Amino acid sequence: MTAETANDIEPPLLSLRSVSVDFSPGALARMLGASLVKAVDEVSFDVRAGRTFGIVGESGSGKSTTVRAILGLESISSGTVRYNGVDMSTLRGRRRKIAAREMQMVFQDPSSALNPKLRIRHLLAERVKIHRSGEYGNRTTIVRNALDDVGLPHTHLDRFPHQLSGGQQQRVVIALALISRPRALICDEAVSGLDVSSQAQVLNLLNDLRDDRGLTIIFITHDMGVARYISDDIAVMRKGVIVEQRPAEEIFADPRSDYTKTLLTAVPTLPRTYGFTEV
Ligand SMILES: Nc1ncnc2c1ncn2[C@@H]1O[C@H](COP(=O)(O)OP(=O)(O)OP(=O)(O)O)[C@@H](O)[C@H]1O
Ligand SMILES: [Mg+2]
Repeated sequence: MTAETANDIEPPLLSLRSVSVDFSPGALARMLGASLVKAVDEVSFDVRAGRTFGIVGESGSGKSTTVRAILGLESISSGTVRYNGVDMSTLRGRRRKIAAREMQMVFQDPSSALNPKLRIRHLLAERVKIHRSGEYGNRTTIVRNALDDVGLPHTHLDRFPHQLSGGQQQRVVIALALISRPRALICDEAVSGLDVSSQAQVLNLLNDLRDDRGLTIIFITHDMGVARYISDDIAVMRKGVIVEQRPAEEIFADPRSDYTKTLLTAVPTLPRTYGFTEV
């Protein structure tokens, strides 16, 4: 059986069906006439294992709320999130903890995710203690392997986070996530704060992790150039709704919704810089 046919019959790692998240305004806002915010409105998509699923859309379109709902950080008003075929709302105790460990978040600002008072060695060792307690005796090896996995030299182990560049810090964040042995990385604007060459390094690292280890990646970005560089499939969100979702190459070759066409007129940074064909 080829990999492709195996993929077709395997259930998706993540599956959302008609997921909505509503925010009610506070008392003062209600008095001023604010009404319910439908941040995510009947969103459905499947994320296949070992693929990168891009979520694009302008600010406020509901991208972060969607992934926060996946992780149980926002209450879902209606709909279901299935992880590995199991309704997340039914997971309790140990099974819920395992799901939380298997889906690791990477945010825009790496410095806020790294304790500034700890050297990189200690940051990584802490994570081994929490998520790999049974192997704690091997922590030096696990810590060194984690740095190798993200292409950082061992000399960086003795540095503090502020002694690394933004791109290097983001790679430490990814190393921390990898120690937890995730099946999926959920990246929310993970390269948006980086310069173009650091962006490319982090994106290439994520592509390698997908290809070499079969990691599944959900990648939120407002930059269509980045989305194209990283995604196998893309969902375009607007005002809480998915207006278009298809394989990335189809979206770029033949955008169907007017909104996607508008997004595509935004400047594509990476494609030009890294020798992509014009979008
Ligand atoms: N806790 C909250 N309470 C009330 N409204 C919220 C809350 N969180 C988000 N919203 C609203 O939900 C909508 C979607 O927000 P969300 O943060 O998901 O957008 P986004 O696509 O991630 O935007 P950005 O690109 O700026 O990060 C916005 O209108 C936002 O103001
Ligand atoms: Mg956001």
